[in-house]
Amino acid sequence: MVVPPVDASVDLSVQLGPIRLAHPLINASGTFDLFEVADAVDGGLLREPPVAAYVPKTVTLEPRRGNEPPRIVETAGGMLNSIGLPNKGVEAFIAEDLPRLLSLPRPVILNVGGFSPAEYGLLAARLRRALEAAGLGSPSASGSSATSTGVQASWTSRVGLELNISCPNVHSGCISIGTDPVETRAAVKGARDEWPGLLVAKLTPNIGDIRPIALAAAEGGASAISLVNTFKGLALDRVSLRPYLGGVTGGLSGPAIKPLALRLCYEVAETVDLPLIGMGGVVEVQDVLDMMACGASVVAVGAAGFRDPWLPATLARQLAVRLRDRGWTLADVLRRAH
Ligand SMILES: Cc1cc2nc3c(=O)[nH]c(=O)nc-3n(C[C@H](O)[C@H](O)[C@H](O)COP(=O)(O)O)c2cc1C
Repeated sequence: MVVPPVDASVDLSVQLGPIRLAHPLINASGTFDLFEVADAVDGGLLREPPVAAYVPKTVTLEPRRGNEPPRIVETAGGMLNSIGLPNKGVEAFIAEDLPRLLSLPRPVILNVGGFSPAEYGLLAARLRRALEAAGLGSPSASGSSATSTGVQASWTSRVGLELNISCPNVHSGCISIGTDPVETRAAVKGARDEWPGLLVAKLTPNIGDIRPIALAAAEGGASAISLVNTFKGLALDRVSLRPYLGGVTGGLSGPAIKPLALRLCYEVAETVDLPLIGMGGVVEVQDVLDMMACGASVVAVGAAGFRDPWLPATLARQLAVRLRDRGWTLADVLRRAH
């Protein structure tokens, strides 16, 4: 299947740090395995990915098996997941996944998770070295002064890095980092010292006040902020009345969290002057407009992509129609709620 092209008379392009996106719709990490879906459903997805940039699942330093099953349960207006970041570890990721990610005709935003602030620097350094070795340029990224100029632009204009400091399903490590401003600053700074390109800090909603965390991410050198990861929740087995998920608690996503995500996006947009990637319950074009009005210049589709992998492309096309019908540009929508 191919989603009809976006109305060319409407400019949907967005600048996200050094990366130019054709439109504002991307996928949320962990909710869309492009290669698996292409294999199972439609190989054309690799030639024409339905996203302006592709975000793979979180990778950690060491391989992880993830949480005990069951890992997913449907809830009212959403789903609860307790996946627990299963992944092959960064070395196998570099050997097996990075080459095919770099062959995609879209920018890629890699996503990493660490269990201490220092691990984010190690992961960023390892991925940068792999990109240099792939012949995509040789940035000298020691120190926070690393910028995207000269030869660095060769890959920093195509590859970004998102720091998952917010996973609610790992019972030690990354969730506490994103709830603590000192650890957040340290994790982002550690990655920034090693990574010259787009650096996105992905924030957790599982906190009383998100604003000090957003400020700490900005101070650490984030070039953008993504929000939100899932909300920690609990579902019980209907008969036994014991926790249903193998990991006991899980992360809530889907339409149920949209008003909560909008509020957090609004607050962060009032607090830091960085581009925001908004996500949480995006299903239809109105959700995209709402996210943008609250301050997100880029919008990610998460759980809704399980049902329809082409949804981001469909929403981009519908966004163009909405803008044209109202006589608006993207700039007219961005931060309109403020
Ligand atoms: C099954 C599942 C797996 C996820 N895995 C990851 C992950 O590996 N890394 C990450 O940063 N976020 C992960 N997330 C969080 C999503 O990227 C997103 O932040 C969240 O689902 C909110 O968006 P939504 O309501 O549109 O799903 C996952 C979410 C789901 C539902």
